[in-house]
Amino acid sequence: MERDSTRTGQYTDKLRVPEALTFDDVLLRPKESRVEPDEADVSTRVSTDVEINVPILSAAMDTVTESEMAIAMARQGGLGVLHRNMDVEAAVAEVERVKRADELVIRDVVTADPDQTVRDVDAMMEREGVSGAPVTDDEGRVLGIISGTDIRPYLEVGDRDEVREAMTDEVITAGEDVTPRAALELMYEHKIERVPIVDDDNRLTGLVTMQGILQRREYENAARDEDGHLLVGVAVGPFETDRAVAVDEAGADVLFIDCAHAHNMNVIDGAREIRESVEADVVVGNVGTREAAEDVVDFADGIKVGIGPGSICTTRVVSGAGMPQITAVAEVADVATEHDVPVIADGGIRYSGDAIKAVAAGADAVMLGSYFAGTDEAPGRVITIDGKKYKQYRGMGSVGAMQSGDGDRYLKDEPDEEEEYVPEGIEAAEPYKGSLESELHQLVGGMQSGMGYVGAGTISEVKERSEFVRVSSAGQTEGHPHDVMITDEAPNYSPNE
Ligand code: XMP
Repeated sequence: MERDSTRTGQYTDKLRVPEALTFDDVLLRPKESRVEPDEADVSTRVSTDVEINVPILSAAMDTVTESEMAIAMARQGGLGVLHRNMDVEAAVAEVERVKRADELVIRDVVTADPDQTVRDVDAMMEREGVSGAPVTDDEGRVLGIISGTDIRPYLEVGDRDEVREAMTDEVITAGEDVTPRAALELMYEHKIERVPIVDDDNRLTGLVTMQGILQRREYENAARDEDGHLLVGVAVGPFETDRAVAVDEAGADVLFIDCAHAHNMNVIDGAREIRESVEADVVVGNVGTREAAEDVVDFADGIKVGIGPGSICTTRVVSGAGMPQITAVAEVADVATEHDVPVIADGGIRYSGDAIKAVAAGADAVMLGSYFAGTDEAPGRVITIDGKKYKQYRGMGSVGAMQSGDGDRYLKDEPDEEEEYVPEGIEAAEPYKGSLESELHQLVGGMQSGMGYVGAGTISEVKERSEFVRVSSAGQTEGHPHDVMITDEAPNYSPNE
């Protein structure tokens, strides 16, 4: 019988597979440009209603983003997404902590009572970490203000005297509509450091401090909401409407449906329910295909992409499923762009070049975990192994992380006592890197260099203008330092990554 080599069937047809690419498979084709990298505008949208000033998000992982990271990210113009390995009450407190940081008018003001002793007030101020306090009566009306300077002489000779004796009773106050500039002018004019904010009945409603105003000035590129508070994102499980409503009420700006496979139709139902229950924008993820994007784009305020590209992920090896990230982003962006819905590329970014490639493939912003896990602002302490400093970094699908939370990001029930988890992530350590600010500086600076090479002055121009070339493995080797011994470490390149 003659052999027909062109014959195919149901299964051999399946092997005629499309190619899917990831970061190392492509490079941006250099183009004519008048863009100076430092002038490239990196502002972007995370979701339909939320804008940030640098296109970077920190991952919702328990070794990456808690309030300290979220505050630092927003101060630098990006967005931190709080993880959800904590109970709802703790999540609400974390959102409030971010919203309170850098606020012009402090709302939970530490106040003193006129009948308290000076000694008491001194101890209270120490405990609360403040250096002065308005003195109010039972109705909350401002009677005076007391500071460390007022207290000091009394501590020597009369620390049992009452606050009313020691306080300054000619208080300079301002109304709710005070601007930072007007508050500063009052402070300079009267040589004071704090101005209580009062209503028409002289009742205390807040406090403006010199330190607060100066701090806000320092972070002029910060990502803020319309009231001037730092922006914050929060991860919520697809079936956690209660958590979603609670963090929404606490002031979260964007909720991120936190699921490894958001094309599960039950997850989509849960996400829709959450979308209908909250005011904040809702980003749905993770997905990695055109079809998944089509199924969420009608209600999602943003779509997050990444099935298994993360540095600590084992999803692809454990489950055999996944999508190389550049192709995944491009497929989703094809659909999302038509509906004007932002796309976030989540996972697998090791270098600033990967981040701008993700944007070129259609992402509006990128999310990173390992890049930030070694910074001071990430949770956890610095550990030393063989004389080198590290911080712990673990997948949210690792055994350790699932034990401290649950497995529902991976759509798994908690195992019975004698059973084991089937993890989709590992526990690792990241070299200690110092401050987030310097890491972000390298990341954003590198992305801007990429914008210069492709002649794109904005993130949307990168998406529109850039073109890819395919890289062979020889081309890849050529692209990294080669045939030399590196003598000094560069701040933005490590051969181990
Ligand atoms: P990078 O590469 O920046 O990736 O460290 C961070 C992203 O990885 C995802 N993630 C996981 N994926 N198993 C996975 O398959 C895990 O245990 C895991 N934990 C986090 C997540 O999307 C994160 O933003």
